[in-house]
Formats: sequence, structure tokens, C-alpha cells
Amino acid sequence: MTIDQYLEQHRQRFEDQLCEFLAIPSVSTDPACATEVQRCATWLSEHVRAIGVPHVEVIQTAGHPIVYAEHCTAGPDAPTLLFYGHYDVQPVDPLHLWTNPPFEPTIRDGNVFARGATDDKGQVFLHIKAIEAMLAVDGSLPVNLKLLIEGEEEIGSPNLAPFVEQHRDKLACDAVVVSDTSMFAPGEPSIVYGLRGLAYLQIDIQGPNRDLHSGSYGGAVVNPINALAHIIAQLKDANGLITVPGFYDAVLDLTPQERTSLNALGYSDERLKADVTVTAVSGEPGYTTIERLGARPTLDVNGILGGFTGEGAKTVLPARAMAKISMRLVPHQTHTDIAEKVMNYITSIAPEGTTVSVQDLHGADPVLVDITSPAITTAAKALEETFGTPCRFTREGGSIPVVLLFDTVLRAPTVLMGFGLNNENAHSPDEHFSLANYHTGMHAVARYYAMMGEA
Ligand code: BES
Ligand code: MN
Ligand code: MN
Repeated sequence: MTIDQYLEQHRQRFEDQLCEFLAIPSVSTDPACATEVQRCATWLSEHVRAIGVPHVEVIQTAGHPIVYAEHCTAGPDAPTLLFYGHYDVQPVDPLHLWTNPPFEPTIRDGNVFARGATDDKGQVFLHIKAIEAMLAVDGSLPVNLKLLIEGEEEIGSPNLAPFVEQHRDKLACDAVVVSDTSMFAPGEPSIVYGLRGLAYLQIDIQGPNRDLHSGSYGGAVVNPINALAHIIAQLKDANGLITVPGFYDAVLDLTPQERTSLNALGYSDERLKADVTVTAVSGEPGYTTIERLGARPTLDVNGILGGFTGEGAKTVLPARAMAKISMRLVPHQTHTDIAEKVMNYITSIAPEGTTVSVQDLHGADPVLVDITSPAITTAAKALEETFGTPCRFTREGGSIPVVLLFDTVLRAPTVLMGFGLNNENAHSPDEHFSLANYHTGMHAVARYYAMMGEA
């Protein structure tokens, strides 16, 4: 039997097992889910052991555990690949917008619906199933393989970063393989060579010591919500450029060649408008949509809280307000530098009569990978052969905090070969993953490992 035949024969079981994995509510940011996150790590480690990977560990950290495994019997001449992914997921709210409960995986119209389906459990699991097939058919793997699957990606990988620094020998490899990004379009595989970074802040603003009658006090006391709105408004100018001093200092400009190749991908504004049903695109003047998404920094409010939001009208001057804001970063901006600049600026424009505090919640540094490395050109070939369509090279706007460390600490190129689609509702209600891409992804990964073994 060939590996491809094995993958076809076991399609149904591979879907059932993915559903078991998806049913575990491994929400890393929610302390109430901590034992479920732990259970997910245990489930995953047992699964990896069951497919025939001899060395499997659940490594406890100060936060959620890391699942680590090794199958390194391909010999010193074969390359060593480190697969990285995450088994933690985002919170499910707003729960009422889900068609089916987020941890009761449901198959509809060729997709599996559940929190974590596309980000990142489905994409992790397709690698595990490809490994299962290789081991079942050949009894061995064509490469030396290490698996590093963490439970804290969605909260900024606070414990994985020091783990990578401390275990650089254990994690030593020729390339890192990640499936936690999107394909360019359905049927069109892509390799992502740039990820943005992130700086995520919370602003709390306190005005009077208690909520006040807005008639008795309004007009004479600072309203913290108005003040917060004013602070937020001052973070950008009328063109949408970020006004924080020094914000753009480290930004690496796109070269004319890169602009040409990115824009040649043909990502149209019409496609974006139809995808998210808006009547106009909006962003930094002088840049196209694909450039804005992958190669330019942003500042966005993620949420805002304060005052009376119940039914009807209540006249009140609230005591406090809060906002969560995040900046997406591009090379060579850094999380710590930008967080500090934005925090200082916000504090400097805080109006008199309020107390403003800003916290740095988490972040990630941006990364660009060299697409000429053999691990990447081989991946592009494997994807092209499997999907029957040339592989696109794209930059994406999301962040994967640890990828920069693979470059700087492990000195290995990261192959971002994602099988998700941007409209699969990652982080949103009704998250799903295309089962066609789930299965085709397994074939692509098995082919890739085989090609790497031959090289
Ligand atoms: N898989 C995403 C990263 C991603 C999203 C890559 C879209 C490419 C396109 C990852 O799980 C994620 O959501 N990362 C967070 C990082 C943060 C919590 C530190 C993000 O980008 O918001
Ligand atoms: Mn992810
Ligand atoms: Mn995510």
C-alpha cells in the first residue's frame, strides 16, 4: 500500500479523531479551562505515542504544558525537521452566534465546525495523520522529526519563548515546519514568508470616585469615556497615520521588487469587500490592500467598556472606562519598543482630572523568512505537485510569537505552509476547517517529508 492509499482508506477515522481533539475546550486565556488545557495536552501526547512515535513528553511550564515528541531514526544524513503548532484555542464568545456549540464538532457542507478547527488543531492534526500514514506504511520516517506543540500560542507564548532559549540543543534542526496560516485562496496553496508582530495594551481610565448623576455633575467633571474616546482619536490623524512619536522609525520599507511580486498575486479589493461585506476598503494612503495587510503596521481598538449599556436610557456620568488596543507590527519594529512608545504617548495626553494606566498584556515580534532556503523551495514544490497549482508566496497580517526565535535562536528557516482559509472564521463564531484541505494537507505534508528525505 502507498501512503496516499493509506490516507484515502482512513479518511473517516481521521475525521472522527479530529472531532475528538476539537471537543476538548483548550482555551488558554481562561483560567477556568486550565484542567481542560492539561487534558488536551495529555490526549494529544497519548495520540502521538499511539501512532508509533516512541519518545513523547508532556512538559509542564509555569503556564500550560508543551507536548514534545521525537522520531529521529532517519540517520545523520537525513535532515531534521521541527514541526511547531499549538493545541490551545481562543475563547468562544459571543456564544449565541454559534450555529452549533463550539466544542461539539459538527460536519456541514464539507467543513468541520468547532473552535480551533482551522486555528490550529485541524492543521496540527493533519501532520500527525500524515506521520501516522508514513509510519504505518513504511515503518519509518524519511526525515528526523521533532514535534513541538504548545498550549499558549493564543496568549503570546510566554513560556515557550524561554523554553526555546533554554533547549536550543534539544530543538536543533535544519528547518521548522508550521501549518498555522492560510492558503491564498481555495485550491491555491501558499507559503507565508512574513508575519506581522503585535503589541497589545489595555488602557484604564478613572475619573470621579463613583458614577455621578450626569445632570448634577455633567459639564464640570471629566467624563472618562469621552476622555478615552479623545485619547483614542488622537492616536491617528485624519489620514489614518499613527501619530505616536517614533512609531514608524524602524519600519522596513517595501522594495519596488517586493511590491511588484505582492501585487502580482492579484488580491483584489472586490474580493475583500465581498468576503467581509463592506462597501469600501480602508487603510494607509499610498498602499494597496495586500501591502496594508502584510507589510504595514496598524493600530486598532479591540474592545471598549464603560458606562451604561443596558436597555433604555440612564443619565449617568461614569466613573471609569477601559479599552484594549493593539498594534500590528512589521520588521524591524519590536513589541517592547512599540509598547513603550505607545504607553508613554497615551500617558502624556491623558487629560487632567483623570488617572490613566496602561498595561502591556502581550505581544510578538514580526518576522520575515528567506524564501530561497531549500526547505522552502522544496515545500513549494510539494504543495504545487499536490494541489496542481503553483504555490504563492505571501505575507500575512497575523502573528505567531515564537517564529522569530526559530530564526534568531535555532538559526533555522521556518516553512509556513498553511492549509487554512481566511474566511474560516478563526477567532470568531462558527470557526470551521475545510475537510478537503484537511485531507489534501495530509498528502502534501507526506509528500513534503518524503522530498526532504530525498534531498
Ligand atoms: N494562527 C494565528 C496567526 C495567523 C493569523 C497567521 C492569520 C496568519 C494569518 C495565531 O493563532 C494567532 O491568532 N496569533 C495571534 C497572536 C497573539 C495572540 C500573540 C494573533 O495574531 O492575534
Ligand atoms: Mn494559530
Ligand atoms: Mn489564533
